Amino acid sequence: MIDFVYIPGQTPLTEEEKRDLIPSLATREDLDAWEQQNIIEAREWLMKKSTLARKVAIREDFLLDLHKRMFGRVWRWAGNYRRSDKNIGAPFYEVPIQLRQLLDDANYWQEHDSFPVRDMAIMLHHRLVKIHLFANGNGRHSRLCADAIVAQAGVEPLSWGGGDLNKPEELRRRYISALQAADSGDYAPLLDFAS
Ligand SMILES: Nc1ncnc2c1ncn2[C@@H]1O[C@H](COP(=O)(O)OP(=O)(O)O)[C@@H](O)[C@H]1O
Ligand SMILES: [Mg+2]
Repeated sequence: MIDFVYIPGQTPLTEEEKRDLIPSLATREDLDAWEQQNIIEAREWLMKKSTLARKVAIREDFLLDLHKRMFGRVWRWAGNYRRSDKNIGAPFYEVPIQLRQLLDDANYWQEHDSFPVRDMAIMLHHRLVKIHLFANGNGRHSRLCADAIVAQAGVEPLSWGGGDLNKPEELRRRYISALQAADSGDYAPLLDFAS
């Protein structure tokens, strides 16, 4: 049985969610490796010119499809909304409603050029993790989503602090504090961190 250890700012899985693991894996390292491989393939698909042109959009179907492509070979709940409450995020039954509101806001920002596209993508990322659509993978999913929107616009890629945010180190602590400032309405630290 995998030892599920959680780092700060992560949401534990329920027993039911854990049972939806597709491959039989013995260790946390194996699970990380499977997820990483699945995500590499999703990123390759996402960053293709044809995907950026035809599939990437601030829409529910794109967001669910992206999560499915990132985690679908590892978890049966990939691409499906969360069905349990977590220590972060909306009550699970409100997830689709809050997402609808976010998509309306973000499409309005995009149509009216309310923000530079890189800032808009970072804000969308924050609102997505704040809602927490999925049982797990919300951070990686919403950052990749922001990367795709920035790539689609053909502007400079986001830095996300220049390191690996999945490790429980100083960089992740700075990232989580910047998210917490954004939770209270101050986006400056997050825009600075992720730009
Ligand atoms: N206070 C917070 N406010 C908003 N988002 C947060 C907060 N704390 C953590 N997060 C986000 O939640 C993510 C963790 O959720 P999780 O579903 O476990 O994603 P992943 O498995 O990709 O790390 C973090 O990477 C971060 O993006
Ligand atoms: Mg996680």
